[in-house]
Amino acid sequence: KKISILGVPMDLGQARRGVNMGPSAIRYADVIERLERLGYEVADHGDIEIGAAERLQDPETNMKNLKAVADANAILESKVNEIVKEGDFPLVFGGDHSIAIGTLAGVSKHYSNLGVIWYDAHGDLNIADTSPSGNIHGMPLAASLGHGHPTLTEIGGYSPKVKHENIVIIGARDLDEGEKELIKDKGIKVYTMHEIDRLGMTKVMEETISYLKDKTDGVHLSLDLDALDPSDCPGVGTPVLGGISYRESHLAMEMLAESGMITSAEFVEVNPILDERNRTAMVAVALMGSLFGEKLL
Ligand code: ARG
Ligand code: MN
Ligand code: MN
Ligand code: MN
Repeated sequence: KKISILGVPMDLGQARRGVNMGPSAIRYADVIERLERLGYEVADHGDIEIGAAERLQDPETNMKNLKAVADANAILESKVNEIVKEGDFPLVFGGDHSIAIGTLAGVSKHYSNLGVIWYDAHGDLNIADTSPSGNIHGMPLAASLGHGHPTLTEIGGYSPKVKHENIVIIGARDLDEGEKELIKDKGIKVYTMHEIDRLGMTKVMEETISYLKDKTDGVHLSLDLDALDPSDCPGVGTPVLGGISYRESHLAMEMLAESGMITSAEFVEVNPILDERNRTAMVAVALMGSLFGEKLL
């Protein structure tokens, strides 16, 4: 199987500059060599182009850079669509998490029941009205579920991209009020840090895999590096204490590799400006190694 890499140097979905350099930082951490060593053919499709910041928060929509974010996601949608059509595995590097809108739009039309694992400190379930920040990187999961502004929900020309019962959020520890309401309202499956501490990552992943296995025909992994503890991943724009450890994250990726269920993935929110000697990108690449089947023995 061929892995097709796409970089999305997006930083307009949040307020801290530097996350646009995430794709470079990940490539610098030798991701291609790492995946090739596992026996994959790897094609790097380069980075997609991102428009200019609009600076002002649009008072009408309460969203920052709505048009530029939507335009980039539309391009991303068509590129990812092509990759899936070719039969390749799409592996997307962010960029801030707003790019999940385009990735999911490109992937989901090829499945009748796409599952999504959202590995994140946050729910990213805000709509403009519930968002405390107006930052679109806090909205991509909501948009993919069909909630929010049509400029975001209609990317790719269809909505929703995923059903509420086909998603699992892992690592949550900072949710806004509106996000909590949506989770309760729709019965969205969430493993907060409390459940991860209590059950252990093994059980969390076993349950996640069996929850998605029979009802989905493909599963997308959307991994925000801020799911991990800031001590392991300092290079993220919205760090939250008390996160998933490096070891637990490897275990999670290894179990997903064993399950064979992951059909696309993205690694987002790597911000090399805020990082320490590219550690966060190196963690991302190490986790990709495990996701694609790396084993010590
Ligand atoms: N919930 C906050 C907001 O909506 C933070 C979102 C952080 N999202 C992320 N992808 N890092 O602004
Ligand atoms: Mn996050
Ligand atoms: Mn918050
Ligand atoms: Mn996120």
